[in-house]
Amino acid sequence: MTDEVYPVPREWAEKAFVDADRYAAMYRESVEDPEGFWRREARRIDWIKPFTKVKEASFHEEDFGIKWFSDGTLNLSANCLDRHLDERGDVTAIIWEPDSPDTAGRTISYRELHRMVCRFANALKEQGVTRGDRVTIYLPMVPEAAVAMLACARIGAIHSVVFGGFSPEALEGRIKDCDSRIVVTADEGLRGGKTVPLKANVDTALLACPAVDRVIVLRHSGSAVAMQKGRDLWWDEAVAAVPDDCLPEEMGAEDPLFILYTSGSTGKPKGVLHTTGGYAVWASMTHQYVFDYRPGQIYWCSADVGWVTGHTYIVYAPLANGATQVMFEGVPNWPDPSRIWQVVDKHQVEILYTAPTVIRALEREGDQWVQATSRKSLRLLGTVGEPINPDAWGWYHDVVGEGRCPIVDTWWQTETGAAMITPMPGAIDMKPGSACRPMFGVKPELVDEHGQFLRGAASGALVITDSWPGQMRTVWGDHARFFETYFTTHRGYYFTGDGCRRDEDGYYWITGRIDDVINVSGHRIGTAEVESSLVSHAKVAEAAVVGYPHDIKGTAIYAFVTLNAGEDGSEELRQELVKEVRHDIGGLAAPEVIYFTPALPKTRSGKIMRRILRKIAEGDVSNLGDTSTLADPAVVDQLVANRPVIE
Ligand code: WTA
Repeated sequence: MTDEVYPVPREWAEKAFVDADRYAAMYRESVEDPEGFWRREARRIDWIKPFTKVKEASFHEEDFGIKWFSDGTLNLSANCLDRHLDERGDVTAIIWEPDSPDTAGRTISYRELHRMVCRFANALKEQGVTRGDRVTIYLPMVPEAAVAMLACARIGAIHSVVFGGFSPEALEGRIKDCDSRIVVTADEGLRGGKTVPLKANVDTALLACPAVDRVIVLRHSGSAVAMQKGRDLWWDEAVAAVPDDCLPEEMGAEDPLFILYTSGSTGKPKGVLHTTGGYAVWASMTHQYVFDYRPGQIYWCSADVGWVTGHTYIVYAPLANGATQVMFEGVPNWPDPSRIWQVVDKHQVEILYTAPTVIRALEREGDQWVQATSRKSLRLLGTVGEPINPDAWGWYHDVVGEGRCPIVDTWWQTETGAAMITPMPGAIDMKPGSACRPMFGVKPELVDEHGQFLRGAASGALVITDSWPGQMRTVWGDHARFFETYFTTHRGYYFTGDGCRRDEDGYYWITGRIDDVINVSGHRIGTAEVESSLVSHAKVAEAAVVGYPHDIKGTAIYAFVTLNAGEDGSEELRQELVKEVRHDIGGLAAPEVIYFTPALPKTRSGKIMRRILRKIAEGDVSNLGDTSTLADPAVVDQLVANRPVIE
């Protein structure tokens, strides 16, 4: 790790919303007088009925519960649209850049977006969707994805967006878990010149979801797709005869806004539930301060709306803040590795927010792809999703940003709603690889294995000791699992699942997941999900999955597989197993390495010793730690001796 420091550039300190002194003062107020701090910050949202209560939260079992602004009412779609119309209706909200540079893009003003959202909201109502209903959205990166989400928010329906890279099986599980009876999709998605069969995937998923009686299909690629009579309806036909205006529902601050499924240590993915008021304040505030965003600036978050980064930093926060943003359908390296920088030049992007995996992949292609473009418009760079190694940080800073643009390395999670530990460009000196300092209202602590707080410079498990407005409120349908997952590892505190180091300056360095979640290219995969997919194959007896460091993906998946007696670990079987995982979850969860082994290292009580498997996968076999509790130590010697070579 490097301890290089990049001081706040003078011009940023002078004109940013938050400079170093203000950061210190605001942070202090936010933790010492949260009521006062949040009462003021919450004014950024238009409330229908003002709140009188601010924070009602406890992480303790006796009185467990999390509520913010609970007696206030609002509509988040009105905050993202209607309130901009008078003064900024003709300002561009979304500049849509399609997958192919040869296809025409679209520019959508706030007024147009408002009309699209109202019409789609009316279409949903016409299909019988009402307040509290769950709407599954499985769309490509097109403006209609934002439209569908905002239309749900407008009528009080709860959206559950499923990333287009998930398989029909994964989609099916998510539709069933939240009892959704309507799915919004497109004929096909387009990514890197290839098509993604979204409608066909929905059709497969729905074979096992009899409760779904309506599918709204956006015409996008224009390819012919099967339409089931009585169930499937084209988007354009659904909105053809509806009025242009739709009154926003008055929602309670604690009414659900969305469910987003994410992987955890155990079992199937959890439906993370976010509510309306606190999330709105939290998303809008962090977007303004972290990106120092002012209306008129061109902002681009390159995430997919299928992930939380897209929910917060493409849909709700920038639109609540009246931003003008680029929305990109494609991939960073197609038609060539210059694409992302060409898009920056084409739309004069000032603020770019992307992921370490993208930066590493493009760095590897060579500087010439970057240098072939101007990038003079860029002023601020951001990253999210996984730890960024100092080398990639340096390349982003020096080559992409030509040393001129601060980098905001934002640490947060699906569960946290928005950025939790992050620099602010005018306030916090940057250290490459460190997410730096806590956001207002966030109280991080590091704990050791006995649950003791660590003081000063230390490494431990990262917990957050008090509630913040945009925190998830429950796991859909399983409140006990919510408490169990996040508040029992270290009683009374929110457990993040991440390991972290704090240095002598109080800077936080996230070291990665310490639970059984693998972060592959910034996408969370539960080891249990991959293992259950592998063992569902008839020839597999047992499987254990761990992560190992990977140049581009950050972490990749390494599977140890034992086969039933008499079966051989052939290349063909390896391919079948990869196919199985793609089928059950999606390509993003496919193991990079499958190691067929006659046995797995287990304790005498039969528990697989993952710690040892992790070391073997990392290639760090000189020090395997304590192996005295193993039932059969010879298993480890064999595993080490026969391990496959990873290029
Ligand atoms: C990791 C994405 C280091 C972390 C917003 C976390 C990071 C998980 C960073 C959440 C960062 C995210 N530095 N690690 N700047 N940002 N992570 O739910 O392990 O998809 O727990 O939310 O990504 O992933 P999720």
